[in-house]
Amino acid sequence: MQLTLAFDVYGTLIDTNGVNDLLKQYIADKAEVFMDLWRSKQLEYSFRRGLMKKYKKFSVCTQSALDYSDAYLNTGLTADEKNCLMQKYRALPPFPDATKSLRKLSTSEYRIFAFSNGFGEEVKNLLKNAGIEKHFEGIISVDDIKTFKPNPDAYAYFLNKSCSKSSESWLISGNPFDVIGAGSVGMNSVWIRRSPKQVFDPWEIEPTVTVSCLTDLYDALII
Ligand code: 2OP
Repeated sequence: MQLTLAFDVYGTLIDTNGVNDLLKQYIADKAEVFMDLWRSKQLEYSFRRGLMKKYKKFSVCTQSALDYSDAYLNTGLTADEKNCLMQKYRALPPFPDATKSLRKLSTSEYRIFAFSNGFGEEVKNLLKNAGIEKHFEGIISVDDIKTFKPNPDAYAYFLNKSCSKSSESWLISGNPFDVIGAGSVGMNSVWIRRSPKQVFDPWEIEPTVTVSCLTDLYDALII
């Protein structure tokens, strides 16, 4: 039996905190609060657009969330600074353990996909820039069906497009909402809990496996 691995991108392989240094240059000690608000608003906007069936690309959610955070925190970012932040978002760094883990997994029997709320071309560039694109059999983007994870249609689309069965597929994600979304359609899941401070949403679905970094994935999957 060949297992299919579906890697979430933002917050799993790619570090969305990679904007922190640039934010610090612009808004000093408000950087961290800004970064967290930006990310949570970005996700909220994608969820709302999915529910309202008013899909726009994930980068539109990112841009709107940036504008919101600037207005809410009264940080007065200029148009140029916002452009630079958006540019940075398109070339975020990988987590240090992503490359090592993918290299090891890709020598095994797994089928490896990136599965993201991001627009296909943007995800491709992100992975290419991070030097990890070569490890993927394919990039599957929800843009094809104009909705966002955790809509169950998104996971069904992934299974269909990758020709995989849910019981033989694993979603790997640092985002609890994503782990719960995959579990709700019968996929296995690994939650990457990078910090003990992270709390999993109290839900009727739990991750199949929890690890603290991507390099622990290989051993977790062969159990
Ligand atoms: C993804 O890459 C948004 O992290 C999420 O799908």
